[in-house]
Amino acid sequence: MKLKQYFEKHRVALLWTLFAGTIVVVFLLGLLAASVTERRAEIATLFNNKRVEIKGIESRSEIWGENYPREFETWIKTKEMEFESKHNGNKFVDVLEMRPNMVVLWAGYAFSRDYSAPRGHAYAVEDVVHTLRTGAPMTIEENMQPATCWACKSPDVPRLMAEVGIENFYKSKWSEFGHEVVNPIGCADCHNPENMNIAISRPALTEAFARMGKDIHKSTIQERRSLACAQCHVEYYFKGDGKYLTFPWDKGMTAEDMEKYYDEVGFTDWIHTLSKAPMLKAQHPDYELFMMGPHAQRGLSCADCHMPYKSEGAIKYSDHHLVSPLMYIDRTCQTCHRDSKENLLKYVYEYQDKILETRDRVEEELVKAHVGAKFAWDKGATEKQMEPVLKLLRAAQWRWDFAVASHGASFHAPVETQRILSHSLDKSYQAQLEVNRVLAQLGVKEEIPVPDISTKEKAQKYIGLDMPKLKGAKDKFIAEKVPEWLAKARENKRLL
Ligand code: HEC
Ligand code: HEC
Ligand code: HEC
Ligand code: HEC
Repeated sequence: MKLKQYFEKHRVALLWTLFAGTIVVVFLLGLLAASVTERRAEIATLFNNKRVEIKGIESRSEIWGENYPREFETWIKTKEMEFESKHNGNKFVDVLEMRPNMVVLWAGYAFSRDYSAPRGHAYAVEDVVHTLRTGAPMTIEENMQPATCWACKSPDVPRLMAEVGIENFYKSKWSEFGHEVVNPIGCADCHNPENMNIAISRPALTEAFARMGKDIHKSTIQERRSLACAQCHVEYYFKGDGKYLTFPWDKGMTAEDMEKYYDEVGFTDWIHTLSKAPMLKAQHPDYELFMMGPHAQRGLSCADCHMPYKSEGAIKYSDHHLVSPLMYIDRTCQTCHRDSKENLLKYVYEYQDKILETRDRVEEELVKAHVGAKFAWDKGATEKQMEPVLKLLRAAQWRWDFAVASHGASFHAPVETQRILSHSLDKSYQAQLEVNRVLAQLGVKEEIPVPDISTKEKAQKYIGLDMPKLKGAKDKFIAEKVPEWLAKARENKRLL
């Protein structure tokens, strides 16, 4: 039978088959659409499927974890300590041992006792309790730090601020809250539990914005993906006797703007024990420097590289394992750059290597300037003669610290960081020239002595630190006081 004849003979049957077939296809498509909508609904109800109701400031992240297991499981990975890039990583690194010059630069300040590279958020509380910088306060009177020192370590901080008042919190002594501040940086530091939006829990950031005439509550979602971090990863100081945590941004965010602020309010962190210069300690202006770099200027936020999306089936969520973005380049840099892993690593290392070259030179010259100033004092220089030296030392070291204390800066804002360091090098030399002028006025013919500070131990001895005594007291504190704090925290259900 010819095809045409066949069609004519079975026309009606064929039409019915086509009709029935269409119905089946439409039905199947409908099913698929329904299942997709259901998936969407599943994602939408992620927030509504809360297993526990979180009220007030809940500092125990384990409780939030019941509602948001994926974010919780990645957050917990900040405990890991196995990643190492060329210059950073999440391991424990004793920086003073690697660069003993820093001991001399911080003579008279707690950082000369002990300074290690940052590691994961999970260690924030443990590290501030164990560092020699917080001393060994067995009693309230023995404290060397105010409670303000806890400010960037734990969600217990906003909880306590709500309980005792912001001013009272800062005014207290560090050890008064040892049994209260026990949970490391967690959910309540960054989130509002009702809608999981980014919430600014630290008053210092909101207040700094207000003084600049900006309302932080009007920031965009993308801005908040950086502002969450700007609660802690910034320059700050403890203002006045109340040790009120303050960000010095009133005149702007460059190293020069903040220096002007500190000079005008007459703030000094400490007097250098060798040179007697009135010093500033830069904290970690990560946010400020990042904002001056190429990525921020293209609209990126911290979370774009440090909290990349991760997917699990149909669910996409933010990786809460905050670490070096070089640990998973495929999910960070490569989402935007079509470039090989090798090339991307090379870009980062090239910026870092070039900047660290200048940094190392600055450290050598700054040390010489402090040692020279001490020599001039020893030879009978007057305060008036030394005034220009001390001013230059303050300015030179502020710039060095500003560029170095921000661990990501050489990648975040390479040009700005190199600029600041070059001014630091210039001012370190100028300080040495001034020292030589003073020595000439005094008629001193001898050379400035060169101390042996080739190891951390030698450098600490040179600046007059009694390390065995400091360490002994700390060991006793860790063995006796810390377990007491933890037991009390467990008893009060502050710690799970
Ligand atoms: C250092 C700040 C910070 C901490 C700590 C933090 N988050 Fe987040 N979280 C963020 C940021 C930033 C985003 C992305 C927000 C956006 O893009 O709007 C986010 C997003 C989320 C979201 C939305 C869905 C997603 O994954 O993008 C949930 C849910 C969430 N976090 C849960 C948690 C939980 C649970 C904890 C504690 C275990 C926690 N977060 C700790 C900063 C933080
Ligand atoms: C509540 C204060 C606080 C907030 C908020 C915060 N950080 Fe941190 N961050 C710290 C402290 C403190 C450390 C050092 C912890 C240590 O070494 O014990 C740190 C360490 C880090 C490290 C080093 C980790 C490593 O493995 O070496 C990175 C990266 C980092 N933070 C990025 C961020 C980003 C990005 C954000 C915002 C999404 C953020 N942090 C928000 C306080 C904070
Ligand atoms: C374009 C990607 C990118 C963005 C955006 C970004 N960073 Fe980084 N960050 C990096 C890289 C790359 C490093 C260097 C990591 C290394 O050397 O292993 C780094 C390093 C760091 C470090 C030091 C990590 C360590 O192991 O010691 C901190 C802290 C940090 N960044 C915080 C921030 C904060 C806070 C922001 C936002 C204000 C931010 N970053 C924005 C890419 C980024
Ligand atoms: C969310 C997108 C995004 C991510 C993630 C990202 N970048 Fe970029 N990056 C950009 C944009 C946009 C520019 C500007 C490009 C231009 O103007 O050609 C840029 C510029 C750069 C530049 C040139 C900087 C300059 O001086 O102008 C380098 C190098 C670079 N990125 C490296 C990296 C590395 C390494 C990472 C991962 C740690 C990374 N980027 C992550 C978007 C991104």
